Amino acid sequence: MCGIVGYIGYRDSQTVLLQGLKRLEYRGYDSAGIAVHTKTGLQVSKAQGRLAVLEGQLHEQRLEGTIGIGHTRWATHGKPSHANAHPHTDGRCVISVVHNGIIENYMELKDALQAQGVVFTSETDTEVVAHLIASYYEGDLISAVQQATRRIRGAYGLGVLAQDNPELLVAVRMHSPLIIGKGINENFIASDIPAILEYTREVYILHDGEMAILTRGNVQITDLQGNAVDCATMQIEWDLQTAEKGGYDHFMFKEIMEQPRAYRDTMVPRLTAQGVVFPELSWENTLINHVKRIHIVACGTAYHAGLVGKGIIERLTRIPVEADVASEYRYRNPILDAQTLVIVVSQSGETADTLAAMREAKRGGALVIAITNVVASSVAREADAVILTMAGPEIAVASTKAYTTMLIAFNLFAIWLAQQHQRVTPTEAQQMIQVLEKLPEQVERLLDTAPLWEQIAGKIASSEHLFFIGRGMDYAVAQEGSLKLKEISYIHSEAYAAGELKHGTLALITEDVPVIALATQQDVLDKMMSNIIEVKARGARVIALTVEGNTALAKIVDEVVYIPKTDDIFAPALAVIPLQLFAYYAATIRGNDVDKPRNLAKSVTVE
Ligand code: M6R
Repeated sequence: MCGIVGYIGYRDSQTVLLQGLKRLEYRGYDSAGIAVHTKTGLQVSKAQGRLAVLEGQLHEQRLEGTIGIGHTRWATHGKPSHANAHPHTDGRCVISVVHNGIIENYMELKDALQAQGVVFTSETDTEVVAHLIASYYEGDLISAVQQATRRIRGAYGLGVLAQDNPELLVAVRMHSPLIIGKGINENFIASDIPAILEYTREVYILHDGEMAILTRGNVQITDLQGNAVDCATMQIEWDLQTAEKGGYDHFMFKEIMEQPRAYRDTMVPRLTAQGVVFPELSWENTLINHVKRIHIVACGTAYHAGLVGKGIIERLTRIPVEADVASEYRYRNPILDAQTLVIVVSQSGETADTLAAMREAKRGGALVIAITNVVASSVAREADAVILTMAGPEIAVASTKAYTTMLIAFNLFAIWLAQQHQRVTPTEAQQMIQVLEKLPEQVERLLDTAPLWEQIAGKIASSEHLFFIGRGMDYAVAQEGSLKLKEISYIHSEAYAAGELKHGTLALITEDVPVIALATQQDVLDKMMSNIIEVKARGARVIALTVEGNTALAKIVDEVVYIPKTDDIFAPALAVIPLQLFAYYAATIRGNDVDKPRNLAKSVTVE
């Protein structure tokens, strides 16, 4: 996820671009840059680091002009660096491009361009776009962009300028957000509304496959074949603060709602007709030949993702997996050697306990893979290989989209490892991929049930204690549901393995203690029903979460909510969504500061 902004009008474009990028910094902040048409031609200024670094640079050396594009980056292809920062240009600086998204076939396009003698100066997928447009450019920028987009596959929001045309800004959208702001004698493009809200409230949301052609006095929208599209704008009534949260009251809710996009971005580039691919695991042969055991190490929500990962990997590969809380791992003297693969999981990649555990694993000679959301983080830099989740920046302290994209990463990794170990046939891998591919759309359906969870939360928000129970992978999800509820609603809750309750904790179940029972795992459904009957018999009000078609549960619980049908191993990526919504509503009903719960920090960088 990156932020892009573009301006054409009469104001100082450097100021407009920097102001817009500030509002988009939540989308990424490892480097930034702008390109401006100045008196001496199209000039680019970019810098590694936060936007403030670029600002300082531009303070020293202004780019004067009234048309420009800008970018704030969240690195995916290529580390954060000056060379990889946007805008990107072709070799002769004829074309300048800012991009948000992922060009899936960039390797193929890069090879073709290199074969024609094109020299690349960055590791990004975006640079391909600049060269490709330049290769078609003969003075008609619109036509060159149209031709280039016919060859590009993937997700892109693009802003494009041509050196010899200071009167035109072109933008295109495909699966990456892009909006157009219309002003009087000035027009704007941006990844998100807050970037332009102080200049105009008249906005057109570009659709996939649409191009915007901006001059100072006009905006024209076409499809990629050049046919005109009706450009009915809307008036934005939000204040700036609401707009930054995408119109929602809290970042947490916005991030919950972003999950279908995050699932797609994390899985799509890794799914092929040959099965799951992980180009980032270049030492795969060592892995295939020598790994005999796997340790998963993480904290909090990331640890809960690891518990699900353990279940999936063991089921698909039959390699033994242990999951550990990072703060305990390094002090338990773990048995490590070159045949041990340690997977560290961390959204931020900066959690002190996880980093320390990772260093312990490396000292012990293990191979280390990091699953992280931040490409330039300490964990990513020190691991032997990195699987990047594509959640995009997560602002709310309570982790939602970062957790679910970790689950997607584990799903993919388990299938990949099973392929390498020939534990699944290519046909079986394809069947699993087909089920995985349905998840984003299924999550969309679950998000539509938000009002139902608001109602359920309303009935429970005054409870002092609550239990989440489940078996197998449902138990892992129960632990995440419980943590989510505790950290933002401050309701005391416990997650329990449903079969273990009767060995003592059942004494705590009364009619004042609601129970959320997860029953998505078909192989233990009968056992789970018995456990639900046990708590019902003690007077508990039970809300069951199960898979469509499991109608028997409705007869024994107070309320039953269904998730769409999927394989048992992928059910956690669906089952957790209602629990996130439930925690969110319970916290808002209680009037808590959802995005910044008491006593907590987003990144815990102390042991
Ligand atoms: O950045 P990390 O994934 O390493 O953070 C680990 C935990 O601190 C984190 O998951 C925490 O439990 C969440 N904020 C809970 O929502």
